[in-house]
Amino acid sequence: MDTTLLTPPRVRRAWYILCRSEELRRTPILRRLFGQPIVLFRDGSGDVGALLDRCPHRNVPLSEGQVHEGTLQCPYHGWQFAPDGACVHVPALDGPATKSMHRATAYPVREQQGFVWVWGDPDHAPDAEPWRFALADAPDYLVVRREVRAQATVHAVAENALDVPHTAFLHGGLFRNDRDRKPITCVVQRWADRVECEYVGEARPEGIVGRILSPSGGVVTHFDRFFLPSIVQVEYRIGTENHVLVDAALTPVDDYDTLLYAVVAVKTRLPGWLLRPVALPVALRIFGQDAVILAKQTERMKHFGEQRFVSTEIDVLGPHILKLLQRAEAGDLGDLERPPSRRDVTMLL
Ligand code: FES
Ligand SMILES: [Fe+2]
Repeated sequence: MDTTLLTPPRVRRAWYILCRSEELRRTPILRRLFGQPIVLFRDGSGDVGALLDRCPHRNVPLSEGQVHEGTLQCPYHGWQFAPDGACVHVPALDGPATKSMHRATAYPVREQQGFVWVWGDPDHAPDAEPWRFALADAPDYLVVRREVRAQATVHAVAENALDVPHTAFLHGGLFRNDRDRKPITCVVQRWADRVECEYVGEARPEGIVGRILSPSGGVVTHFDRFFLPSIVQVEYRIGTENHVLVDAALTPVDDYDTLLYAVVAVKTRLPGWLLRPVALPVALRIFGQDAVILAKQTERMKHFGEQRFVSTEIDVLGPHILKLLQRAEAGDLGDLERPPSRRDVTMLL
């Protein structure tokens, strides 16, 4: 049995998406990461600054200020901050503002593929680059970006996104049905920083989604993957002409508040204009059902003051995801070059 107290692992030395590029224009915006308020703004050349939302002078929220001369200006006494946190101007001071104590706490930032990523630990320089969404700009795919918010931990949201046994119940009829179950083999491979499950022998899902994608059936290839710190990936190939890659990065807004930034890439025999209005409402309905059940799970865990799970062998990914997060939080991933361990599990699907 896995029991942990209410504080879930916090993997701070990692990149997280704080907003879409288009959300950040002339006005600074407030976001949260691990519960900490962070203000985002663009300087004179459009580069993004991410500062702890607390003016070092008198602790006023910098997000209430404005961008002035390419700097973020505090609304109280007008101190001006550059994206690296340096205080470059104190309006009432006769002379330059140079002391390091005047710095605001700055977070490393990357902007790529239309997302603003922030490194979660302002005290340690990044030792990696943010995740790249493989098919975000693929020309021959229908690519849809969506955000979903769930009142649940990163672990719970990641497990939910990759958990197959719940789909026939919670999403009955939309994705899979709770009838005519057949055994399939789950090949689970665990690395030091990721885990993957391949489902071998899976029939085309009978629900609406499967019927839209491949009316004639066909061989299904299905992988679910988790990569530290918080990437979930679901990949389907059905028949020869259908490929779906759901690639999502989870942001821990707070311990029990997670934002999922999904990039969904779909290639089918159907044109995008036809697929989109049919598939999108179904996908959003599925996400909605997940968000509701995750919030209920959180409510119960908070009530009982602990996270307590019993699992069977068909909970193929969740327990290992929790272990990976705990090791990453402790900075103890072990040998990244180590070949994966493999385990085959039978699931009735
Ligand atoms: S509190 Fe920000 S300038 Fe004084
Ligand atoms: Fe689900």
